Amino acid sequence: MATASGINQLLLKLDNLTLESISDKYPNTYPQTNPFDLYRVHLAEILAPITGVAAEKIHPVIQWTNTLDKGDFTLPIPALRIKGAKPDALGAEWAPKFPEDDPLFDKPVAAGPFLSFFAKGGPLAQSLIPMIRALGADYGRNSFIGLKDPKDPSKGKKRLVVEFSSPNIAKPFHAGHLRSTIIGSFLANLYEGAGWDVVRVNYLGDWGKQYGLLALAYERYGDEEALKKDPIDHLFRLYVRINAEKDDELATIEEKKKEGQDVTELLANSLDEQARGYFRKMTDRDESALALWQRFRDLSIVRYRATYARLNIKFDEYSGESQVSEEAMAKVAKEMAEKGITREDQGAVLVDFTQLLPGKEGKRLGKAVLRKRDGTALYLTRDIAELLGRYEKYGFDHMIYVVASQQDLHLQQLFKIIELLGYKDIASRCQHINFGLVMGMSTRRGTVKFLDDILRDCADHMHEVMRKNESKYAQVEDPVGTADTLGISSVMTQDMSGKRGNNYTFDLAVMTSFEGDTGPYLQYAHTRLSSIKRRANVTEEELADADLSLLTEPHAVNVVRLLAQWPDVAQNTLRTLEPTTVVTYLFRLTHVISSSYDHLQVVGSEPALKASRMALYDAARIVVANCMRLLGLSPLERM
Ligand code: ARG
Repeated sequence: MATASGINQLLLKLDNLTLESISDKYPNTYPQTNPFDLYRVHLAEILAPITGVAAEKIHPVIQWTNTLDKGDFTLPIPALRIKGAKPDALGAEWAPKFPEDDPLFDKPVAAGPFLSFFAKGGPLAQSLIPMIRALGADYGRNSFIGLKDPKDPSKGKKRLVVEFSSPNIAKPFHAGHLRSTIIGSFLANLYEGAGWDVVRVNYLGDWGKQYGLLALAYERYGDEEALKKDPIDHLFRLYVRINAEKDDELATIEEKKKEGQDVTELLANSLDEQARGYFRKMTDRDESALALWQRFRDLSIVRYRATYARLNIKFDEYSGESQVSEEAMAKVAKEMAEKGITREDQGAVLVDFTQLLPGKEGKRLGKAVLRKRDGTALYLTRDIAELLGRYEKYGFDHMIYVVASQQDLHLQQLFKIIELLGYKDIASRCQHINFGLVMGMSTRRGTVKFLDDILRDCADHMHEVMRKNESKYAQVEDPVGTADTLGISSVMTQDMSGKRGNNYTFDLAVMTSFEGDTGPYLQYAHTRLSSIKRRANVTEEELADADLSLLTEPHAVNVVRLLAQWPDVAQNTLRTLEPTTVVTYLFRLTHVISSSYDHLQVVGSEPALKASRMALYDAARIVVANCMRLLGLSPLERM
């Protein structure tokens, strides 16, 4: 890769290595996309003769740091397991032996049992900035990690199926769906950036007796125009109305029964019973019943698509509970019975983990009903057949379910059943990514029906915040569109700031503020970098030819050092699977950029200095944008 030339070539010569020998000797290093990988290799090679430990043993022990004052890398000496010597003494002995004129590092600092290494600013800036500018949106991505065989790309990519969002048709889109949408989309982007082949699946709640009830409501009160105009809203209204009627009716019947009346006929004609009947027609594949339901589903999906597009999300498949066939369920039911996993209990079919698995595990998983006495298949049954169907269809290497913690038990039962069926390998490829609750999410217009309601509320609030600064507001070209993007950034950033497992409070005032670690702050940071580029008016050639050795100020060096961390952070996120790993880095980066402005004037500086600083800020803008896009945010150019 041309962009990795320069310093990399020098290094390769220096340590007598080739790109190929590096990847043999040091697994999981990708110098083509991550300059710090080469830095670590170089450190290991230099330290080997000094410490008497083999370079391959030193390399995995080298750590990155959490703050710049601790250096760019540290070596925890105890991790080398050298017998009979005190780590502190070893550090003090080794530090002075480090070469004076190393091209990449200053002499290390010994601090107790640690050695801290600081990269030299000049060489880092000179190799990194051109590389970032050349790679652009690809900086921080890595096409090797997702390969089936990193040594032979022709064998293809590993495949990830990620199921997320998964709302229920005609029912409210609640905070759990919101979080699943945000986190799921982030995980999909993350794996895609690591070179995986990613399939995004939305598993709709679109089946069950309640959809029979909905059809009855439509037959009575349906409005063709309203359905076409806003299907999600119309179906929701119908659903609320018919449910209230059904409940009233059941209460009345209950009253009459108490009074001693014969209610058999009333019950038989009740809405509840009619809904059951309608749904039975659906499961029996009655064409007209299915056609109506299919319309509801199709029209809803059209709306979902448009809303997800606002969040830069596109699903490859709209699956759903309805898509699991009775045949597929009958097939696993038979298999489960044969393998002794299920048993019948008064006509119902259930899995009794307490009997199947000894001790704590069985107790924890309890019992799960798969089929009710009347024969209806339950949520869990559908999930079993769906999981196996997905494996058949996609042959995934890994599958992630992004579902709230409330369903922990459900997914544990699901994976365990797959295992008990004898598909241990498939079960081991499945993972539940859970998350905590959102407290206090309500909108000013009342009930949340769909994602649109939440997003619109945030945009409105954002618009009010923007209006408070009159002079600035007057300059915004597209206030409505800007408020919309900022509003979306607010919700998403707030959601991804903490660890997934934590609960948080939905707070419009906090999340839409330009102060603090918020979405609008990130957008502001990006627009400021974009505006410098517009105002500086430096041509691409001037940027390419800029003399980067002029970037000697500590503020410039610190920005460069943070920019160099991005591929490491992205790769580490693949381990944590926590959006906050990226968010935390991004705020550190934007803070360091923001405090550099006063020290590194661009507009008004003499041409050579101006070009070098502009190249630095251009690289910074690229990295900020790459982080934002990974999180699912749309970076704004101006606001
Ligand atoms: N529709 C479900 C709900 O709203 C979430 C689906 C989770 N995914 C699954 N495969 N069970 O609770």
